[in-house]
Amino acid sequence: MFCAASPEARSREKVTGRLMLAVGGAVLGSLQFGYNTGVINAPQKEDAEGSGWMLKVIEEFYNQTWAHRYGEPIQPTTLTTLWSLSVAIFSVGGMIGSFSVGLFVNRFGRRNSMLMMNLLAFVSAVLMGFSKLGKSFEMLILGRFIIGVYCGLTTGFVPMYVGEVSPTALRGALGTLHQLGIVVGILIAQVFGLDSIMGNAKLWPLLLSVIFIPALLQCILLPFCPESPRFLLINRNEENRAKSGLFPTLSHPTFPPVPPVLKKLRGTADVTRDLQEMKEEGRQMMREKKVTILELFRSAAYRQPILIAVVLQLSQQLSGINAVFYYSTSIFEKAGVQQPVYATIGSGIVNTAFTVVSLFVVERAGRRTLHLIGLAGMAGCAVLMTIALALLEKLPWMSYLSIVAIFGFVAFFEVGPGPIPWFIVAELFSQGPRPAAIAVAGFSNWTSNFIVGMCFQYVETKGRTFDEIASGFRQGGANQSDKTPEELFHPLGADSQV
Ligand code: GLC
Repeated sequence: MFCAASPEARSREKVTGRLMLAVGGAVLGSLQFGYNTGVINAPQKEDAEGSGWMLKVIEEFYNQTWAHRYGEPIQPTTLTTLWSLSVAIFSVGGMIGSFSVGLFVNRFGRRNSMLMMNLLAFVSAVLMGFSKLGKSFEMLILGRFIIGVYCGLTTGFVPMYVGEVSPTALRGALGTLHQLGIVVGILIAQVFGLDSIMGNAKLWPLLLSVIFIPALLQCILLPFCPESPRFLLINRNEENRAKSGLFPTLSHPTFPPVPPVLKKLRGTADVTRDLQEMKEEGRQMMREKKVTILELFRSAAYRQPILIAVVLQLSQQLSGINAVFYYSTSIFEKAGVQQPVYATIGSGIVNTAFTVVSLFVVERAGRRTLHLIGLAGMAGCAVLMTIALALLEKLPWMSYLSIVAIFGFVAFFEVGPGPIPWFIVAELFSQGPRPAAIAVAGFSNWTSNFIVGMCFQYVETKGRTFDEIASGFRQGGANQSDKTPEELFHPLGADSQV
């Protein structure tokens, strides 16, 4: 896939070392996003008798901290609230971060914005890592919020930077690397979160704070990565022009000079076409002036692309993919799977494998086709899962079918709906409206992610009377105080294993 017909085209599609360094350095941020998405679901384990779920280790920490501080055990409803807050506050941070992308990228540049944001990752790592020592669940919750802000910013910075440094013909494939970073992050969290590794009472603070490692790595790598040449030429250029009234040319390059940056990225001396493309984009931007979020919706020229961007993000999240990544272990348990934790890791492996598949087909098959195939396949797998659950009591082997259904669901997701919505926004918009569009798209993604995460706990209605369901909605968590904490945290049911 990385070769093309004509020699000229081939030079424009070359994957140079500098380009890979730039993309690799950036997607460490995507890895952080995936890790922090997966990690909160990970620290759970079965008790020795296999008779159900033990309290998740972090919840146990909340329990002990409360008892130590107030001299009495924590109420199940308070514990539920604190735990839900710890999970959900990550997405709230994400919403804020994704919406703020535009504040940074034009002022500091794409690369420097990514670099600076690692400060948030370090602060978060310290807060979460020392929360046990400091006997403070507030530190953990604040840490989750801060890393959420970081991840929200990242989901804007990375696709923008990768889209802007990549040659046109490779934008899809390289854009998919953002998603690959995310899924590898999820998988690492699932493995590290095993009871035998770090998902235990002793090591969970380390499990949450190892995020300082990719942050450190990124701080080392990014200074060697080039700034986005589009940013240098178009945005910085605009400033220079404003100051000097000159439009820099190849012989009068901008500061920092763009052609050397581009030559290194492309691995060729002839970067004329890339420069022409950027200048055209730049001229258009000067005609457009700065595009605000409001203008995105007002202007007829942007209305259709922003609608496409938002709908793609909504289809990604409302497909319910994160119900799998937040609650997979409970889902597998409910489906009668004997080793649900390992099935969860299996889903992480399938997730990663199919993102790699997507990487190789995305430039050939086309974005729209892949997205539609993915969504249709997910719908088919959801039907299969429903059948498997419905027949489980009569046919215990249905638990295998449900594994196939969930693995299929995840695989189809990664074919299109996983990677495409992230990188397509940078493609749909030119330099002027790009930051605002990425902010709107990211915000839609994080908001729907938050809604799915919160609602999934409440949509499982099997085995409850209409009255119980209705009162659940009326009273929120308050009516659940007669349940054991296990039931509260695993709303799919703790006693359904066959
Ligand atoms: C996408 C989604 C993210 C999800 C991940 C799963 O990146 O944006 O929310 O967790 O895919 O692979």
